Amino acid sequence: MVKKGIILAGGSGTRLSPLTKAVNKQLLPIYDKPLIFYPLSILMLANIRDILIIVNPDQLKNFKNLLGDGRRYGIKIKYKVQNKPKGLPEAFILGKNFIKKENVALILGDNFFYGQSLTSKLEKSLTHKSGARIFLKKVNKPENYGIAKIKKNQIEKIVEKPRKFISDYAITGLYFFDNNVYKYAKTLKSSKRGELEITDLLNIYKKNKKLRFEHIGRGAVWSDAGKIDDMTNVSSFVQSVEKVQGIKIACLEEISLFKKWISNKIISKNIKFYGNCEYSNYLKRI
Ligand code: TTP
Repeated sequence: MVKKGIILAGGSGTRLSPLTKAVNKQLLPIYDKPLIFYPLSILMLANIRDILIIVNPDQLKNFKNLLGDGRRYGIKIKYKVQNKPKGLPEAFILGKNFIKKENVALILGDNFFYGQSLTSKLEKSLTHKSGARIFLKKVNKPENYGIAKIKKNQIEKIVEKPRKFISDYAITGLYFFDNNVYKYAKTLKSSKRGELEITDLLNIYKKNKKLRFEHIGRGAVWSDAGKIDDMTNVSSFVQSVEKVQGIKIACLEEISLFKKWISNKIISKNIKFYGNCEYSNYLKRI
């Protein structure tokens, strides 16, 4: 079973500058909530309650102000500072003492997932014992993503931002790994852009025939919010769904209450914490 999850919420956010000059990308708004609520809600939906958030040194206080130790949401949150954005696989090196001897999920702090079949796919992945598992989604511009080529229902090839078309299945920012991940991450060398690359890590699993995948079907939405247009598009999407359906996407308390991880008393406390706002009004309703 996968019981632990890491959220990578550091990075430089260059593409969003000047928005990210003083505030970390993951704390910027996606409609009515900070971006980090969305990937955090995905881990919670997958029943992962033991969470490590990786943050930049100057942002630790801000994340703590927002999420605290997680008790507010019926989960356990620890933080680890990444001094420089040295690449996604560094999460496992920084997270060594957190992961210990267990399997672990990784989600990128700027990734947005939404869709009904998603929760069942996540739950299925939790029972995964060995190897790595990735989630693929068809995209319009494969040259902008890490791409997987599938042949006979197996991953044949993984290429970061392929210049020539090999497939349009992008590797999304959610991964499940077995306990070898630390050992493999330690063997990686920095690429030309000076970062440890997640594709190199996945290729180790592939070489060992231990890389599996799930498709995120047409019924689900995935986007990263790394560019301003993606961010505003995702924001508008959340706004539309919330307005039309009268529900909230990524209301952490709602997920936690449904799973019986928190009581009404904690929700009342949270309403006081947020103050008089739309999010609090929603909490009063649930
Ligand atoms: P990216 O979007 O690849 O990088 P970035 O956030 O630094 O943005 P930019 O390219 O515009 O400079 O990162 C994906 C996610 O992973 C994002 O949520 C930030 C996080 N991240 C880290 O926490 N540490 C890292 O070393 C890297 C590279 C990214």
